[in-house]
Amino acid sequence: MAGKISPSMMCADFRRLEDQVRELEQAGVEYLHWDIMDGRFVPNFTLGPDLMNCVRELTAIPFDLHLMMERPEDHLHLFDIRPGDIVSVHQESTTHLQRTLQAIRERGAKAAVALNPATPVYTVEHVLDDIDVLLIMTVNPGFAGQKLVPATLKKLSNVKTYLAAQGYPDIEIEVDGNVSWENAVRMREAGADIFVAGTSSIFRKGENIQELTKQFRDCIA
Ligand code: DX5
Ligand code: ZN
Repeated sequence: MAGKISPSMMCADFRRLEDQVRELEQAGVEYLHWDIMDGRFVPNFTLGPDLMNCVRELTAIPFDLHLMMERPEDHLHLFDIRPGDIVSVHQESTTHLQRTLQAIRERGAKAAVALNPATPVYTVEHVLDDIDVLLIMTVNPGFAGQKLVPATLKKLSNVKTYLAAQGYPDIEIEVDGNVSWENAVRMREAGADIFVAGTSSIFRKGENIQELTKQFRDCIA
Protein backbone atom coordinates (compact mmCIF):
# COMPACT_ATOMS: atom_id res chain seq x y z
CA MET A 1 0.00 0.00 0.00
CA ALA A 2 1.30 3.48 -0.87
CA GLY A 3 2.40 5.87 1.87
CA LYS A 4 -0.17 8.22 3.46
CA ILE A 5 0.29 11.96 4.02
CA SER A 6 -0.65 13.71 7.27
CA PRO A 7 0.18 17.45 6.96
CA SER A 8 1.33 19.06 10.23
CA MET A 9 -1.24 21.82 10.82
CA MET A 10 1.03 23.71 13.22
CA CYS A 11 3.06 24.52 10.08
CA ALA A 12 0.03 25.93 8.19
CA ASP A 13 -0.49 29.63 7.43
CA PHE A 14 -3.08 30.53 10.11
CA ARG A 15 -3.91 33.76 8.27
CA ARG A 16 -5.59 31.66 5.60
CA LEU A 17 -6.34 28.40 7.35
CA GLU A 18 -9.59 27.60 5.57
CA ASP A 19 -7.97 28.10 2.15
CA GLN A 20 -5.16 25.77 3.13
CA VAL A 21 -7.60 23.12 4.32
CA ARG A 22 -9.32 23.32 0.90
CA GLU A 23 -5.94 23.04 -0.85
CA LEU A 24 -5.11 19.98 1.27
CA GLU A 25 -8.48 18.45 0.40
CA GLN A 26 -7.79 18.99 -3.29
CA ALA A 27 -4.33 17.51 -2.82
CA GLY A 28 -6.00 14.36 -1.44
CA VAL A 29 -4.09 14.08 1.84
CA GLU A 30 -5.21 11.19 4.06
CA TYR A 31 -5.12 12.97 7.45
CA LEU A 32 -4.62 16.37 9.09
CA HIS A 33 -1.96 16.19 11.84
CA TRP A 34 -2.72 18.23 14.96
CA ASP A 35 0.17 18.86 17.37
CA ILE A 36 -1.30 19.64 20.77
CA MET A 37 1.31 20.72 23.33
CA ASP A 38 0.96 21.58 27.05
CA GLY A 39 4.24 23.42 27.74
CA ARG A 40 5.14 20.68 30.28
CA PHE A 41 5.64 17.41 28.43
CA VAL A 42 7.27 19.53 25.69
CA PRO A 43 8.63 23.10 26.10
CA ASN A 44 6.09 24.69 23.76
CA PHE A 45 2.42 25.50 23.26
CA THR A 46 0.78 25.17 19.86
CA LEU A 47 -2.73 24.31 18.74
CA GLY A 48 -5.68 23.76 21.07
CA PRO A 49 -8.92 21.73 21.04
CA ASP A 50 -11.03 24.78 20.10
CA LEU A 51 -9.08 25.38 16.89
CA MET A 52 -9.07 21.69 16.02
CA ASN A 53 -12.80 21.34 16.72
CA CYS A 54 -13.48 24.46 14.61
CA VAL A 55 -11.61 23.04 11.59
CA ARG A 56 -13.50 19.79 12.19
CA GLU A 57 -16.59 21.59 10.93
CA LEU A 58 -14.78 22.56 7.70
CA THR A 59 -13.66 19.20 6.39
CA ALA A 60 -14.29 15.46 6.39
CA ILE A 61 -10.54 14.63 6.28
CA PRO A 62 -9.80 12.32 9.26
CA PHE A 63 -7.70 13.92 12.01
CA ASP A 64 -4.37 12.63 13.30
CA LEU A 65 -4.07 13.98 16.85
CA HIS A 66 -0.60 14.05 18.36
CA LEU A 67 -1.02 14.69 22.09
CA MET A 68 2.23 15.99 23.57
CA MET A 69 0.99 16.49 27.15
CA GLU A 70 1.30 15.06 30.60
CA ARG A 71 -1.53 12.61 31.46
CA PRO A 72 -3.38 12.81 28.10
CA GLU A 73 -6.13 10.61 29.55
CA ASP A 74 -7.27 13.62 31.58
CA HIS A 75 -7.87 15.70 28.44
CA LEU A 76 -9.30 13.36 25.75
CA HIS A 77 -12.82 14.65 26.43
CA LEU A 78 -11.83 18.14 25.16
CA PHE A 79 -11.34 16.88 21.61
CA ASP A 80 -14.04 16.07 19.05
CA ILE A 81 -12.56 12.64 18.27
CA ARG A 82 -14.35 10.70 15.53
CA PRO A 83 -14.16 7.21 13.96
CA GLY A 84 -11.33 7.12 11.41
CA ASP A 85 -9.14 9.50 13.40
CA ILE A 86 -5.74 8.52 14.80
CA VAL A 87 -5.00 9.62 18.37
CA SER A 88 -1.36 9.34 19.50
CA VAL A 89 -0.26 9.56 23.10
CA HIS A 90 3.36 9.47 24.19
CA GLN A 91 4.59 6.36 25.98
CA GLU A 92 6.56 8.71 28.23
CA SER A 93 3.53 10.84 29.19
CA THR A 94 1.30 8.54 31.24
CA THR A 95 1.57 5.79 33.84
CA HIS A 96 -1.72 4.34 32.50
CA LEU A 97 -0.87 3.76 28.85
CA GLN A 98 -3.04 0.67 28.31
CA ARG A 99 -6.11 2.28 29.87
CA THR A 100 -5.59 5.42 27.76
CA LEU A 101 -5.32 3.42 24.55
CA GLN A 102 -8.56 1.63 25.45
CA ALA A 103 -10.25 5.01 26.00
CA ILE A 104 -9.13 6.15 22.52
CA ARG A 105 -10.53 3.02 20.86
CA GLU A 106 -13.78 3.42 22.80
CA ARG A 107 -14.16 6.71 20.89
CA GLY A 108 -13.92 4.79 17.60
CA ALA A 109 -10.48 6.16 16.74
CA LYS A 110 -7.25 4.32 15.93
CA ALA A 111 -5.05 4.18 19.03
CA ALA A 112 -1.38 5.10 18.61
CA VAL A 113 1.67 5.33 20.82
CA ALA A 114 4.30 7.98 20.07
CA LEU A 115 7.93 7.31 21.03
CA ASN A 116 10.54 10.03 21.58
CA PRO A 117 13.88 9.41 19.85
CA ALA A 118 15.47 7.96 23.01
CA THR A 119 12.57 5.64 23.89
CA PRO A 120 13.09 2.01 22.82
CA VAL A 121 10.37 0.25 20.80
CA TYR A 122 10.23 -2.65 23.29
CA THR A 123 8.52 -0.28 25.77
CA VAL A 124 5.27 -0.91 23.88
CA GLU A 125 5.70 -4.70 23.93
CA HIS A 126 2.77 -5.24 26.33
CA VAL A 127 0.30 -2.95 24.53
CA LEU A 128 0.71 -4.21 20.97
CA ASP A 129 -2.84 -5.62 21.16
CA ASP A 130 -4.07 -2.11 21.95
CA ILE A 131 -2.45 -0.09 19.17
CA ASP A 132 -3.18 0.45 15.48
CA VAL A 133 -0.33 2.88 14.74
CA LEU A 134 3.17 3.40 16.18
CA LEU A 135 4.41 7.00 15.86
CA ILE A 136 8.20 7.19 15.66
CA MET A 137 9.44 10.71 16.45
CA THR A 138 12.39 11.56 14.22
CA VAL A 139 13.00 14.83 16.08
CA ASN A 140 12.61 15.70 19.74
CA PRO A 141 8.97 16.81 20.03
CA GLY A 142 7.99 20.43 20.58
CA PHE A 143 8.97 22.44 17.53
CA ALA A 144 8.68 22.46 13.75
CA GLY A 145 11.73 23.14 11.59
CA GLN A 146 14.13 20.90 13.51
CA LYS A 147 16.72 18.53 12.03
CA LEU A 148 16.18 14.76 12.05
CA VAL A 149 17.94 12.84 14.85
CA PRO A 150 20.10 10.48 12.73
CA ALA A 151 19.82 7.48 15.08
CA THR A 152 16.04 7.45 14.55
CA LEU A 153 16.46 6.13 11.01
CA LYS A 154 18.18 3.01 12.33
CA LYS A 155 15.51 2.74 15.02
CA LEU A 156 12.83 3.04 12.33
CA SER A 157 14.37 0.28 10.23
CA ASN A 158 14.21 -2.07 13.25
CA VAL A 159 10.57 -1.28 14.05
CA LYS A 160 8.98 -3.15 11.12
CA THR A 161 11.07 -6.24 11.89
CA TYR A 162 10.26 -5.96 15.59
CA LEU A 163 6.51 -5.69 15.00
CA ALA A 164 6.52 -8.61 12.55
CA ALA A 165 8.58 -10.73 14.97
CA GLN A 166 6.06 -9.99 17.72
CA GLY A 167 3.22 -11.05 15.37
CA TYR A 168 1.84 -7.56 14.63
CA PRO A 169 2.78 -6.86 10.99
CA ASP A 170 -0.40 -4.80 10.44
CA ILE A 171 0.43 -2.04 12.94
CA GLU A 172 1.08 1.05 10.79
CA ILE A 173 4.25 3.07 11.34
CA GLU A 174 4.02 6.86 11.33
CA VAL A 175 7.04 9.19 11.19
CA ASP A 176 7.06 12.76 12.46
CA GLY A 177 9.77 15.41 12.30
CA ASN A 178 11.87 16.84 9.42
CA VAL A 179 10.11 14.57 6.94
CA SER A 180 11.77 16.20 3.94
CA TRP A 181 11.74 14.74 0.44
CA GLU A 182 15.12 13.10 1.01
CA ASN A 183 14.27 11.82 4.47
CA ALA A 184 10.85 10.58 3.33
CA VAL A 185 12.47 8.31 0.74
CA ARG A 186 14.74 6.78 3.40
CA MET A 187 11.86 6.50 5.88
CA ARG A 188 9.72 4.75 3.30
CA GLU A 189 12.53 2.31 2.56
CA ALA A 190 12.77 1.69 6.32
CA GLY A 191 9.09 0.76 6.44
CA ALA A 192 7.14 3.94 7.28
CA ASP A 193 3.47 4.06 6.21
CA ILE A 194 2.23 7.49 7.37
CA PHE A 195 4.28 10.67 6.89
CA VAL A 196 3.80 13.88 8.86
CA ALA A 197 4.57 16.56 6.29
CA GLY A 198 5.60 19.94 7.74
CA THR A 199 7.96 22.81 7.00
CA SER A 200 10.53 20.64 5.23
CA SER A 201 8.04 19.41 2.62
CA ILE A 202 4.52 20.61 1.80
CA PHE A 203 4.35 23.75 3.97
CA ARG A 204 7.27 25.48 2.30
CA LYS A 205 6.59 29.21 2.47
CA GLY A 206 5.02 30.72 -0.65
CA GLU A 207 4.88 27.48 -2.62
CA ASN A 208 1.82 25.68 -3.99
CA ILE A 209 0.63 23.01 -1.56
CA GLN A 210 -0.96 20.86 -4.24
CA GLU A 211 2.22 20.79 -6.34
CA LEU A 212 4.38 20.09 -3.29
CA THR A 213 2.05 17.31 -2.16
CA LYS A 214 2.18 15.68 -5.60
CA GLN A 215 6.01 15.73 -5.52
CA PHE A 216 6.01 14.44 -1.94
CA ARG A 217 3.71 11.56 -2.84
CA ASP A 218 6.20 10.42 -5.47
CA CYS A 219 8.76 9.98 -2.66
CA ILE A 220 6.55 7.65 -0.62
CA ALA A 221 4.86 5.60 -3.34
C1 DX5 B 1 7.03 18.37 16.42
C2 DX5 B 1 5.74 17.97 15.76
C3 DX5 B 1 5.87 17.79 14.26
C4 DX5 B 1 6.35 19.04 13.55
C5 DX5 B 1 6.76 18.70 12.14
O1 DX5 B 1 6.90 18.17 17.81
O2 DX5 B 1 5.29 16.73 16.28
O3 DX5 B 1 4.61 17.39 13.72
O4 DX5 B 1 5.34 19.98 13.51
O5 DX5 B 1 7.36 19.84 11.61
P1 DX5 B 1 8.65 19.67 10.67
O6 DX5 B 1 8.20 18.88 9.48
O7 DX5 B 1 9.04 21.08 10.32
O8 DX5 B 1 9.67 18.93 11.48
ZN1 ZN C 1 3.45 15.78 15.49
